[in-house]
Amino acid sequence: MVSSVKIEWFVFSEEEKNLLRESWKMINTEKKAIGCGIYEMIFMQCPEIRRLFPKLILKGGKIDKKATEFSFQALRFVQVIETAIFSLDGLHSVDNILDNLGRRHGKLELNNKFRAYYWSTFLESSICIIRKELTQLRNYNDEKVDQLVMLYRELLRGIVSKIKAGYNADITHRLNQMTIEDASNGDSNARRYSVQTSATAVSHNTIHVTLHLNLLQAI
Ligand code: HEM
Repeated sequence: MVSSVKIEWFVFSEEEKNLLRESWKMINTEKKAIGCGIYEMIFMQCPEIRRLFPKLILKGGKIDKKATEFSFQALRFVQVIETAIFSLDGLHSVDNILDNLGRRHGKLELNNKFRAYYWSTFLESSICIIRKELTQLRNYNDEKVDQLVMLYRELLRGIVSKIKAGYNADITHRLNQMTIEDASNGDSNARRYSVQTSATAVSHNTIHVTLHLNLLQAI
């Protein structure tokens, strides 16, 4: 399995780093609103993702920003991007934060609610909203916006890869635990049902295409 530390970040030149910092500073929209915009785009692209967010309240496709619990989630999402922008001089310093964040996402797999394509939905929706924000700034012509979007894409690709590596590590860890429990309990008492999961992408010696997750609850 690829450790998140081993995933290399895009190497930004000093000029590119300054462009990213400067543009981020110039985006005037409240960060929480940017986060809500990103989530609205995500839910529009993939409505099925909504079921992962029970705290979400939508009014005509828009997030109810007064429902503070969800808009706080939206803010936390943007803060991850902001942390990377503030760490451009040493991006590896955020590796552990992203790895841990990814590991916290591992629990989503357990309910079979997660799909691998969600990663690219989050990535593309974030880029789309960032482009919209940049376009609204008078300071940048189309060419500059395109260049900036390319830079944000590289940064976000790094962020998502690191989170994904943490997520995969968590799934592998859970599977190993289950395999150990299986071996010590014997298979006969365990009630099993099979769950096709995106974690099949994780290289795991003992588990093949379909992962049999032992779940404690009765079916
Ligand atoms: C761009 C990659 C992503 C980032 C930066 C990100 C960021 C975050 C952050 C900061 C949290 C709060 C976690 C905590 O403090 O424990 C969170 C929670 C969560 N994320 Fe993500 N996430 C990403 C991708 C995804 C994907 C692909 C999904 C799947 C649809 C997802 C679903 C969730 C859910 C369901 C929660 C828990 C929300 C709650 O507490 O109700 N995230 N995410």
